Amino acid sequence: MEKRIITTEYMEEEGRYESSLRPKLLSEYIGQTKVRETLRVYIEAAKLRGEPLDHVLLYGPPGLGKTTLAEIIANEMDVNFKVTSGPAIDKPGDMAAILNNLLDGDLLFVDEIHRLNRQVEEVLYPAMEDFAIDVVIGKGVTAKSIRLDLPKFTLVGATTRAGMLTAPLRDRFGVVHRLEFYNVEELIKIITRSSRVLGIDIDEEGARQIARRSRGTPRIANRLLKRVRDFAQVQYDGNITADVANSALDILEVDRYGLDTTDRKLLMQMIDKFGGGPVGLETLAAGIGEDAGTIEEVYEPYLLQNGFIARTPRGRIVTENAYRHLGLEH
Ligand code: ADE
Repeated sequence: MEKRIITTEYMEEEGRYESSLRPKLLSEYIGQTKVRETLRVYIEAAKLRGEPLDHVLLYGPPGLGKTTLAEIIANEMDVNFKVTSGPAIDKPGDMAAILNNLLDGDLLFVDEIHRLNRQVEEVLYPAMEDFAIDVVIGKGVTAKSIRLDLPKFTLVGATTRAGMLTAPLRDRFGVVHRLEFYNVEELIKIITRSSRVLGIDIDEEGARQIARRSRGTPRIANRLLKRVRDFAQVQYDGNITADVANSALDILEVDRYGLDTTDRKLLMQMIDKFGGGPVGLETLAAGIGEDAGTIEEVYEPYLLQNGFIARTPRGRIVTENAYRHLGLEH
């Protein structure tokens, strides 16, 4: 049977599907060593038994490779890869239809799975546990529930907010992995690989400068690489060296820790308006005109991990480290 990769318009639109840069096999995947190596074992074991892989939940900040890993799992298992997302499915019947259309062994990837509504989520419970869905036929006293068998499939769920999953859903995943930020050496390898794929000339120090400013995130590294290439081609001889990378990144207002204008705005707001904190998430969000969820999922994890802000029971505070980085006296 022909193996197909189905992408939804949603992924194309969001520009999330840069398929040429995504590694297709575990052996090409850089970083996330523990996740990669445990998945390698589970995949091999499932193949040996001739069974589908158990359901997998991947969580962590955006851009760290959840979709890429899901696609790699499908490739390694040699099964179809089907994609949907939490916000795209609003009716239980839509989820039932997606499940009913799966073929034996298929991998169904549900991005932003924490955004499924409760009724849709309930369709998943018997589907994940017993490979069946319960369909209600008729209305009122004559209504009957019949159980339809589904093919054996693997659900891979991705979320930036594992804490927002309900316990019954979380408990139905046999494999749960958190993706971590990448270190500079791993990002250098990713940038070097992407440069090879895109035909970009870059030296190791050029890659290092981009890596250092990519907030531990391959999606950002690849985006910065493309922007730096534009500067390299227009203002230099096309080669990306450390100097070329640094001057382009300065123009892009990405500083030497990878903080961008929004990060700095967030820190400055905490300092100027709230005396460095503690300040609550909602108050902060309103102050800089960003959505609270975006701050929590996109901006905060990196600022927390790198010690620019800290969480206290009374709210977020700016750290000494951040004052120093911003060149402020405290
Ligand atoms: N491109 C984006 N993420 C990657 C990764 N983890 N390994 C290799 N190439 C990548």
